[in-house]
Amino acid sequence: MTAPTATALAKEVADWMLEILRGTSGPVAVCLSGGSTPKLLYELLAQSPYQGLMPWDRMHVFWGDERFVPPDDARSNYRMTYTALLGPVAMPASHTHPVQTEDVTPEQAAQLYQAALQKFYGAATLDPARPLFEIVLLGLGTNGHTASLFPGTPALEERSAWAVATTPEGEPTRITLTYPTLESAAHVAFIVTGAEKRDVLVKVRAGDLALPAARLHPSGEVRWFLDQAAER
Ligand code: 6PG
Repeated sequence: MTAPTATALAKEVADWMLEILRGTSGPVAVCLSGGSTPKLLYELLAQSPYQGLMPWDRMHVFWGDERFVPPDDARSNYRMTYTALLGPVAMPASHTHPVQTEDVTPEQAAQLYQAALQKFYGAATLDPARPLFEIVLLGLGTNGHTASLFPGTPALEERSAWAVATTPEGEPTRITLTYPTLESAAHVAFIVTGAEKRDVLVKVRAGDLALPAARLHPSGEVRWFLDQAAER
């Protein structure tokens, strides 16, 4: 779907999430995206009516990727999400599963994150009939990356680990979920806004496999949420 503005788009995504989550029961895992695009959505979810309607007490929050920086660093996806959403809605800490980025190596962080995911899932092997995530939100980088699956990196080939450390050229080290983990999802939304994403968006949607976002094949539905600037 295409909305006229990024603000209108955030409302579309919020309504979509609400409808899905209200149709579930029991604990439900939601995988959030980082970067700057979803901030408007997170701020909106923290406000009325979503603040009062979302099943916060049943939701468990994970992230598709995290930069390997302290949680109070301006580049931290956890920090952005906490400030915009989790703090304002008073999400219980036991339902929030950030990537640990202090007192561990990046490889240990990835292993700990995998263990947290497996604990929530209740198994160490993903069953295609039982998706890990109810909802996965993803962004798109201008080079075609999504989560921290960057072009030409070994993380793209990982099929057994649920999360890995990755250091794309010119980027800080990051922890990212791998394809099998992101694909274990009932509903996936790519949220893409802004004219600078226009060219890469066309290529990804045409299935250019050099671009990591084009190589994601979730078990459930995939929705593209775009603003007009990105679509044209
Ligand atoms: C991150 C991401 C990443 C992001 C894209 C788009 O933490 O950087 O999860 O995949 O979604 O880079 O980023 P913007 O929303 O800032 O354009």
